[in-house]
Amino acid sequence: MTHSLLMVRELRQYFPIRRGVFRRVVGHVRAVDGVSLFIRRGETLGLVGESGCGKTTLGRTILRLIEPTEGQIDFDGQDITRLRGRALRAARRDMQIVFQDPYASLNPRMTVRAIVEEGLKIHRLGTAAQRLEKVAQTLDEVGLDPSYMDRYPHEFSGGQRQRIGIARALALAPRLLVLDEPISALDVSIQSQIINLLTELKSRHSLTYLFISHDLSVVEYIADRVAVMYLGEIIELATSEALYRNPLHPYTRALLSAIPSIDPQRRRQRIILPGDVPSPANPPPGCRFHPRCPLAEDLCRRQAPPLVTIDDHAFACHVVQRELAQQRTAPDQRPQPGPHDDDSAAPAAKAAGRIPGAQPEERGSPPA
Ligand SMILES: Nc1ncnc2c1ncn2[C@@H]1O[C@H](COP(=O)(O)OP(=O)(O)OP(=O)(O)O)[C@@H](O)[C@H]1O
Ligand code: SF4
Ligand SMILES: [Mg+2]
Repeated sequence: MTHSLLMVRELRQYFPIRRGVFRRVVGHVRAVDGVSLFIRRGETLGLVGESGCGKTTLGRTILRLIEPTEGQIDFDGQDITRLRGRALRAARRDMQIVFQDPYASLNPRMTVRAIVEEGLKIHRLGTAAQRLEKVAQTLDEVGLDPSYMDRYPHEFSGGQRQRIGIARALALAPRLLVLDEPISALDVSIQSQIINLLTELKSRHSLTYLFISHDLSVVEYIADRVAVMYLGEIIELATSEALYRNPLHPYTRALLSAIPSIDPQRRRQRIILPGDVPSPANPPPGCRFHPRCPLAEDLCRRQAPPLVTIDDHAFACHVVQRELAQQRTAPDQRPQPGPHDDDSAAPAAKAAGRIPGAQPEERGSPPA
């Protein structure tokens, strides 16, 4: 049986908003608002959503780089939410992060050797000679010549710098890596090299990934399951296969409709969402997506939809939930299969075929 390496329950991260001379707290940015999820050992969970929806904050809170406001984080069966001191340091060794920007995330005054060795020193691992050996070995693994270890980050290209960032994380032999947009600052030609490297390292070291990205095509390629975030909440979570074949939530459908595809089977009618993402300091009542949702109805404005799971496909939408319930009670009323919908599709997938929402492309900005 595969156990979860990471389990997150009802995690919240509220940043205080302070105003005035006395820096009085006048509100909170609800960057992460009641997120529950798990990641199995050896799995890659993709995390997608528009800018500002809380992906980075969720990743950092899971690693305890910022203290959670509420909720629980279990790593390998241990509750790490309130660990302090040495115990927290030990847990952190198992969970490392690779940042988006390889220019900003590496200290320009440190040599590559010092950067990769830093974690080993903090955790007091090995003698100086053993650490040197480990740095050389790790650089080699990420495709960098160890003889360059006494150089500084500015002497390397963007892709090479990201390899240094990966080496820094890998040197501590972690079990979970949070990859926060690890390729989005890189040239397209370099992106696939880094993705291949991450795939290789994952299988060689039996790593588990939380892969955060704006790039839905990359996430489909690399992730086993995908979680979609909107305004601090998970609104859909399913296997990559199910999510990309039959997204259930209207927001996910809009996001995926923006992916260009040369495969006519996969080409979707573009859905343009009206308006901008509301502020997480003052999220809309009821379903947070309702001001932009083409299917919104009165109930959506009053009541937040729960995240329900059907056939291993989790979604938070009143309308989809009702459609599914209707289908189950009246199986003869099922719709004709659509282009992405064959007879073997699960009921949850079939329900998606009933949901309108595809609108002809008009003026406006893409949703992601
Ligand atoms: N330290 C902080 N103090 C106050 N607000 C913060 C802080 N960090 C993040 N936020 C806010 O929390 C929300 C979520 O930010 P976050 O960086 O997690 O989003 P994101 O999904 O990673 O976005 P992007 O795709 O642009 O990286 C945003 O509204 C952001 O302004
Ligand atoms: S609950 Fe209502 S507003 Fe929210 S996504 Fe579903 S239909 Fe749209
Ligand atoms: Mg981010």
